[in-house]
Amino acid sequence: MGKGHNPIMSKHLNDLFEHNRRWAEQVQAQQPGFFTRLSQQQTPRYMWIGCSDSRVPANQITGLEPGEVFVHRNVANVVVHSDLNALSTVQFAVERLGVEHVMVVGHYGCSGVQAALEGARVGLADNWLRHIQDVRDRHWDILKNLEERHRAEALCELNVIEQVVNVAQSTVLLDAWSRGQNILVHGWIYGLRDGLLKDLMVTIEGPSSILPLSKAAVAAVAEALRD
Ligand code: CO
Repeated sequence: MGKGHNPIMSKHLNDLFEHNRRWAEQVQAQQPGFFTRLSQQQTPRYMWIGCSDSRVPANQITGLEPGEVFVHRNVANVVVHSDLNALSTVQFAVERLGVEHVMVVGHYGCSGVQAALEGARVGLADNWLRHIQDVRDRHWDILKNLEERHRAEALCELNVIEQVVNVAQSTVLLDAWSRGQNILVHGWIYGLRDGLLKDLMVTIEGPSSILPLSKAAVAAVAEALRD
């Protein structure tokens, strides 16, 4: 297809197609057959559950190529037990692709978490962010003693820990572990200011470690931010 045939496409969008053509050429030149191989099969070892925030792109942050990470993103990286979208994605990753690691990755400065913390009304998403307010309320004993900026950071971390627990308690993970499948669920957080990932040390390897490890991770959050 020639370029520039769509009269309502702005220059910016044309730029995207231009970048895409150049990128595809470059990849093909550096790794001949790359797209053909990928089109036949994907075998990612990792599943990333992250925030939709445009500043937290899974592949770029981790240096992973197309084909290496299976991604699910939504506002504030929330995994709800009845969310068929998230659960179906986790199931596909675990049962069909056989990923070895599922990482829930939050980030500091998350506007979804901030809105939930303040109880700000943003519209339809209030109902989604209500899940994070549940996290806030559950851990209010920790949060109430913190300065405002620390409180937001702590809630970002606590939200990751809670979502790790939700992934680990899903039927998908429980079934995988009962089959003897080796799969780890991790909780990480990303810093917008320094571009660095931090491990929240809540790596779950089976049902028996969910409670003790999540409790220890929550205690570590409280300890680290205490003034
Ligand atoms: Co966010």
